[in-house]
Amino acid sequence: ARARDNGLALTPPMGWLTWERFRCNIDCENEPDSCISEQLMRDMADRMQQDGFLDAGYKYVIVDDCWLASTRSEAGRLQPDPNRFPSGMVALGDYIHDKGLLFGIYEDIGSETCAGYPGLRGHFETDVQTFDDWGADYLKIDGCNERSSALPADHEAFGAQLAALGRPIVYSCEWPLYEHGPHNYSAIAATCNLWRNAHDIQDHWQSVVSVARLYALLQAEQFAFAGPGAWFDPDMLLIGNSGLNEGESRAQMALWSVWAAPLIMSNDLRRLDAASAAILLNSEVIAVDQDTLGVLGRPATVRFSPNQVGCGAAAGYALRELFSHGDLGVVTPVQEIAAQVPARDALMYKLTVQ
Ligand code: GLA
Repeated sequence: ARARDNGLALTPPMGWLTWERFRCNIDCENEPDSCISEQLMRDMADRMQQDGFLDAGYKYVIVDDCWLASTRSEAGRLQPDPNRFPSGMVALGDYIHDKGLLFGIYEDIGSETCAGYPGLRGHFETDVQTFDDWGADYLKIDGCNERSSALPADHEAFGAQLAALGRPIVYSCEWPLYEHGPHNYSAIAATCNLWRNAHDIQDHWQSVVSVARLYALLQAEQFAFAGPGAWFDPDMLLIGNSGLNEGESRAQMALWSVWAAPLIMSNDLRRLDAASAAILLNSEVIAVDQDTLGVLGRPATVRFSPNQVGCGAAAGYALRELFSHGDLGVVTPVQEIAAQVPARDALMYKLTVQ
């Protein structure tokens, strides 16, 4: 099978995740509104259901790092921080499910999460059982605190535990991000529903640009492996935070949708401005992302005629491309000039009247 064959993520998953906006804020005493807690998750589930996000397709409500207590229970089980998740994970899962939403949880394949909480290493079987008991529908599995060479076998072993469950769970990986290359995308796509290559997205435009650059470089190698059930994950949507302006927000939404990327928001849905909400809820753009064929977009062919750029001399023009120093012949004012412009690159044409 090309893709992880669990019947899930047949189109790119859509949802909401704590990390980019709320990070590892565990200070509920001073910042009760924005610490990682069951209350934050419930608030977001409420907003997703009531403000049209669920109807638009955003289904997964995912708690990222820092939900855990600093140690496992005496029985060796993962447990949430008792002060911030006093009702426990079953109750939180039930709350989310009662809204018609799905429940996502973060963990790490290594000895500890990136923020230093107990990791999965040595406990795959027990922990998969725990996640199942809690009603998890989606697992984001990070790759901190593990050797690069152990990552393929770890991810496959964890995936095998998941496959042994009766109930399918979306398996989101960061395997290629932590693995020193080259990567076996065939194995990655057969194991994980999503994989991340790019460093953590940050709340500014340059970060979006750097993700776009990386994917322009990687697309030839990995696009063949992406499709229903297996998607590359350029990380969260920043829309609704302070880093992107409205145009930049549209650009991120457009890029992610053309890439058939997961649309995972990380913002404060309780304080979302109308322009951001409109972009995130744009059903025509979402339909591009969710196209069931799952074919990822690539740089397009650009076409123009001299006439269209104000060059109408009947005698025609000598056409030259300035970066390759190439003479490309003579074109008439109505003749079409077509070129495939590589992403993160430019072609520069000079028209010299004959
Ligand atoms: C890594 C991941 C992030 C986030 C943090 C949590 O940096 O790439 O997406 O999960 O860990 O500590």
